[in-house]
Amino acid sequence: MAKILVTGGLGYIGSHTVVALQEAGFKVVIVDNLSNSSIKVLEGIVAITKQTPEFENFDLRDKQSTVAFLKKHNDISGVIHFAASKAVGESVENPLLYYENNINTLIYLLQELNRNGNTNFIFSSSCTVYGQADVMPITEAAPIKLAESPYGNTKQIGEAIIKDVCNANKNFNAIALRYFNPIGAHSSAKIGELPIGVPQNLIPYITQTGAGIREQLFVFGDNYPTTDGTCVRDYIHVVDIANAHVIALQRLLNKENQDNLEVYNLGTGIGSTVLEVIKSFEHVSNKKLNYKIVNRREGDVISAYANTKKANNTLGWKAKSSLDDAMLSAWKWQQTL
Ligand code: NAD
Ligand code: UFG
Repeated sequence: MAKILVTGGLGYIGSHTVVALQEAGFKVVIVDNLSNSSIKVLEGIVAITKQTPEFENFDLRDKQSTVAFLKKHNDISGVIHFAASKAVGESVENPLLYYENNINTLIYLLQELNRNGNTNFIFSSSCTVYGQADVMPITEAAPIKLAESPYGNTKQIGEAIIKDVCNANKNFNAIALRYFNPIGAHSSAKIGELPIGVPQNLIPYITQTGAGIREQLFVFGDNYPTTDGTCVRDYIHVVDIANAHVIALQRLLNKENQDNLEVYNLGTGIGSTVLEVIKSFEHVSNKKLNYKIVNRREGDVISAYANTKKANNTLGWKAKSSLDDAMLSAWKWQQTL
C-alpha cells in the first residue's frame, strides 16, 4: 500500500483529499501546523474513513524539521503539497509572509525529495495564474498574466520553480493542478470549509448569511459585461477536486504521464454568475437570501471558467457534481457549525 505525504492535509481541500486517498487504499501521512485548520478535522477524517492517518504537527518553513521528517518517512511514494497561505487580501498586506510560506516550504520539500529520490509531486496551483484571460473557457495554454496579488504571484513562481526542477531532473515527475473555485463539503457533513473570521469567499459568506451569522451578503458589482452584470466563476465541488488528486497521483505512480511536468485545469467548465449562485442557495435551502448590490471589489476578474478537455481526456477525470449539489453540501455543513 503506497504511502503518500499530504502537506496541509487538515485544511479544506487537503482533508477531502485525505479521505479520497484513504478510500482509494492509500496510506496517508499528514503534515500540518494548524495555522489555518483545527485538529478536530482529523476526527472528521477518521469518522468518515474509519482509518487514522499519521499526523505530524510542524511548520514546513522549518527546514530542519522537514529534512528530519523526510528522513524518518523514507517510504513515501508521492507528495501532495497543499500547505500554503491563501488569503489574497492578506497577501497584499503582508507579502513577505506569503513568499516565505508558499515559496520556502516548496523549495525545502523539493530539495529533500530530489535528494532522496522521491519523484512524484502534486502541486496546488490556481486559476488565478491566468488573471483575466482573453478567451473563455480558459485552456491550459492560455498565457500566464501578471499576477494581481502576492498570493497569485506565489502560485506562478511555484509553478516556475517546479518547471525548472523538472527540466533539471528528468526523473522528477510533477503535476500542477490549477483549481478554479472549490466549494462545498463532504456529503457526510463531517468535514468542510472552516473560514476564520469574516469569510472572504462567496459561498461561506452566503451560507453564514443564510444561517443568520451575517446579516446581509454584499454582491460586489452588477455592472460587469456578463449576462446579469455580476462576475462569473467556475464553482467546483471540493470532492471532485479531491478525486482529481487521487487520479493524478495514480497517473504518476503508474508512470502514465507523458511529460515530467503536466498541468491541468480543475473546473466544471460551467461559468456561474454571483446572482445564479445566490439562486442556487435559495433553491437548495428553501430560504430567501438577504443581499445587496454594492461597488465592485478591487482586483476581481470579470469572468473565469475552465476548458476541462485536457483533464477529461488526458487525466481521465471529470467533475460530477452540479452547483446545486455543491451548494447543498455547503449548506448542510454550515448547519453543523
Ligand atoms: P487551507 O488553508 O484550508 O489549507 C492549507 C493547510 O495548510 C492548513 O491546514 C494550514 O494549517 C496548513 N499550512 C499552511 N502553512 C503551513 C506550513 N508552513 N506548515 C505546515 N502546514 C501549513 O487552504 P485550502 O483551501 O485547502 O487550499 C489548499 C491549497 O490549494 C493551497 O495551496 C491554496 O493556495 C490552493 N488553492 C486553494 C483554492 C481555494 O479557493 N480554496 C483555490 C486555488 C488554489
Ligand atoms: N463575491 C461577492 N461577495 C462576497 C464575496 C465574493 O459578491 O462577499 C463575489 C466576488 O466579487 C466574485 C465571486 O463572488 O465575483 C467569487 O469570489 P470569491 O472570493 O469566492 O472567489 P475568487 O474567484 O475571487 O477567488 C478565489 C480564491 C482565490 C483564488 C481564486 C482562483 O479566493 O484565492 O479563487 O482560484 F486565487
